[in-house]
Amino acid sequence: MDLEGPIGDIRRQLAAALAKASSDQENEDLRVQLLGRKGVLTGLLRGLKDLPANERGAAGQALNALKEEVEAKLAAARAGLRDRERMERLQREWVDITLDAGRRPTGNLHPSSRIQYEIEDVFTSMGFEVLDGPHVETEFFNFEALNIPADHPARDMQDTFYLEDGNLLRTHTSPIQVRGMQRLSPPFKIIGPGRVFRCERIDASHEATFHQLEGMMVDRDIKVAHLIYFMKELLRRVFRRDVEVRLRPGYFPFVEPGFELDVRCLICGGKGCSVCKGAGWVEVLPCGMVHPNVLRHGRVDPAQFSGFAFGLGLDRLVQMKYGIDDIRHIHGADLRFLGQFR
Ligand code: DAH
Repeated sequence: MDLEGPIGDIRRQLAAALAKASSDQENEDLRVQLLGRKGVLTGLLRGLKDLPANERGAAGQALNALKEEVEAKLAAARAGLRDRERMERLQREWVDITLDAGRRPTGNLHPSSRIQYEIEDVFTSMGFEVLDGPHVETEFFNFEALNIPADHPARDMQDTFYLEDGNLLRTHTSPIQVRGMQRLSPPFKIIGPGRVFRCERIDASHEATFHQLEGMMVDRDIKVAHLIYFMKELLRRVFRRDVEVRLRPGYFPFVEPGFELDVRCLICGGKGCSVCKGAGWVEVLPCGMVHPNVLRHGRVDPAQFSGFAFGLGLDRLVQMKYGIDDIRHIHGADLRFLGQFR
């Protein structure tokens, strides 16, 4: 029997059908056509028994090889179909699970936090340690230890929120000095940023909640010159240029002598403008040499050690750095305002 014709036909039929087939059903139909009970190839195999014995071997081998070939090609085509279906489905059901950072607003640090972190970097780079303290303070840490005894008129300088248990919301970050002194032994350099509270009448430059950053350095022979050096370095790095400063006497019971450190107005360069109210100087930093009584409350011996301290108004600094005319913007939580500090 001449098998070459039929085998060639089957191969061509298979190739042509597979090229077109696009579903499992077509693949199955093809299998039935060739290999089913009434299939062409099945028919040929069945016919083997009628061949003369000397032809049967070779014909059988050829047909069985073809059968395997057909089965393999059908299986490969089925696998190809699966893959294609899977890819199509992935395309169809593709979902972007990432936030589109390009279009969505991502949020940003509050300008007061930004300045705070910036100043922390400046001071830690100069060997200062960053300390924290509680918002609710005792009278001792907020006043007493800072050389402001009960009934002293200096308490009136800070309008205070008292709690029923006799404690209070800290009116400044200065209690962190005392807590720091009690915990560390000199020499040490610390800063303490944080939120403070005062019973203020609120206006463009007064808020009941605001931020300060306290600083203190205690060592042997600390002098005003050290204070001036660190303050100038701080301002130079915050404003990214050299600044001119001047000291005026200032009264704070916890320092002696006490100063107001002014900086030459960065807006007008000293000619006089609305920010410096025509003075050419802006008050930024109350500071001074730590009073011996305060050192004693911090368990530091004033006969051996001296120090300077300062209390920076962080929100004021933000106002100056970014030219913000009203302090109420700073804690107003208005996204139109906050979004400008990206
Ligand atoms: N605690 C003062 C205030 O809030 C600011 C201050 C002044 C802090 C002088 C100091 C200092 O450390 O030495 O008004």
